[in-house]
Amino acid sequence: MSNMNRRRFLKTGGAVLAASSLPLSLVEVAFGKSGPEDFSFAYLSDSHITQIKGKEFVRNWDRGLIRAVAETNLLDPKPDFVFYGGDIAQLGKPEEIDHGLEILSGLRYDKVHYVMGEHDYYLDLGEHWRKRLGPDHYSFDHKGVHFVVLNSILTFDDWTHKDWRSPMQRMKAMARLDNPKGSPFMVGEKQREWLKQDLGKVDKTTPVVVFSHSPIQKIYKGWNFWTDDAEQVQALLKPFKKVTVLYGHVHQIQYNQIGNISFNSAMATAWPWPYPVSFTQKASYLPKLTVAMNRADPFFERDATGWQFVNMTTGRVDVHYVLPDNENRVVAFDEKLGHPVDTRYQPLTKRIAPQTHY
Ligand SMILES: [Fe+2]
Ligand SMILES: [Fe+2]
Repeated sequence: MSNMNRRRFLKTGGAVLAASSLPLSLVEVAFGKSGPEDFSFAYLSDSHITQIKGKEFVRNWDRGLIRAVAETNLLDPKPDFVFYGGDIAQLGKPEEIDHGLEILSGLRYDKVHYVMGEHDYYLDLGEHWRKRLGPDHYSFDHKGVHFVVLNSILTFDDWTHKDWRSPMQRMKAMARLDNPKGSPFMVGEKQREWLKQDLGKVDKTTPVVVFSHSPIQKIYKGWNFWTDDAEQVQALLKPFKKVTVLYGHVHQIQYNQIGNISFNSAMATAWPWPYPVSFTQKASYLPKLTVAMNRADPFFERDATGWQFVNMTTGRVDVHYVLPDNENRVVAFDEKLGHPVDTRYQPLTKRIAPQTHY
């Protein structure tokens, strides 16, 4: 990072964190306020570590993750934990997962939570990932918020076990963006049943944050920006007052509100996907609320990649997108409007005209 950018990052990051009602939360704790406390966590995603051969890996993707780890370690005050949004590996190889986890071991945090991405799964059906990281779905409570981790990239057994010539052929079929031989992602009945039991024990006023890899909403099926049983999962979340779903996979900023559920995506540390609109030249599949990112410099390989830190304020989520060499973006839940808002670009008059790169 150049000095200028580093200063800008620290200034922006520090200012946002300082303004994130930390003194208020201290007061609230001092006075024994019950309910959710304010805190923050960091969110890294989609590193797509790619093995060339042996100990050789694609340097560009390594650098994206190394940089995100270094910047996450600089945060002050320190977030409570780190979350990783899936797709550590490109082709699910144990060498790729191990190399990615070695870089991530540089995080100076006690706890890093992981969600499974399809690139981590479809070679050995998650065996190595689970060996290194444990269960692919579970829940935990932190400062009055109930967190749920789901594996949302499963698919029909018929497809998974159909006669692939090799596990790598299956992996490559699922790894493509436009995957004509792929299959829609889903959470599946078994996990939905588990989720129902898990949420049954949680008070309906407790804020709930769900981590998934694919969006638990239907954006664009052709690219699997999609979870096939999204509505069934949403129905289980419906009784709760404050719900946020945070997801990776799309490598771009998206946000949405469906009923009581807010949705926020994460940028990748590896590369940005285009928005469906710019690639297909069809009508936009983006949620109406989402203001597309301004691709200021499409010729800079790290443009529109980055990582994010998340402020939890009274159980709501504010996502601060940290772009290495572009303006940072903040998408924050607006209590009055009842949905996430791009704090700078939401009004039409403030938007930068979209560029076309056909
Ligand atoms: Fe990805
Ligand atoms: Fe993915």
